[in-house]
Amino acid sequence: MYTEKVMDHFQHPRNVGEIENASGVGTVGNAKCGDIMRIYLDIDENQIIRDCKFKTFGCGAAIATSSMATELVKGKNIREAMEVTNKAVMEALDGLPPVKVHCSLLAEEAIHAALWDYAEKHDIKIEGLVRPKNDIHEGEEGEEEDY
Ligand code: FES
Repeated sequence: MYTEKVMDHFQHPRNVGEIENASGVGTVGNAKCGDIMRIYLDIDENQIIRDCKFKTFGCGAAIATSSMATELVKGKNIREAMEVTNKAVMEALDGLPPVKVHCSLLAEEAIHAALWDYAEKHDIKIEGLVRPKNDIHEGEEGEEEDY
């Protein structure tokens, strides 16, 4: 049911953790399954994503997609990061079962939410970026126990 790449990223997730004083943090949740994903971005003065980490409270596919999403955005500039869509993440994982497509959507939304947070903090606009509707970022970082 799962590709080798999904299993690999699920069992050995890359970039797990948090970034202190991150340039942008995005937390999104899916109300149906209850899964929550948080992505931290460290963005330098040239708008290049120097580092990216994640924390996901969710299913295996959510962990694999967050892991792959962080790998894909690292080293990219913020505009290129916008191209890391759920489709791009799924392709990089060699596919996901149809019932798990929403997990990859959470990864895309978490990146967008983190970029949104960065853009707000720096008072800039990122072309094509809108606030993800599942964004639950309300300054509640560090209070995971609330979830
Ligand atoms: Fe909801 Fe995977 S089952 S994110």
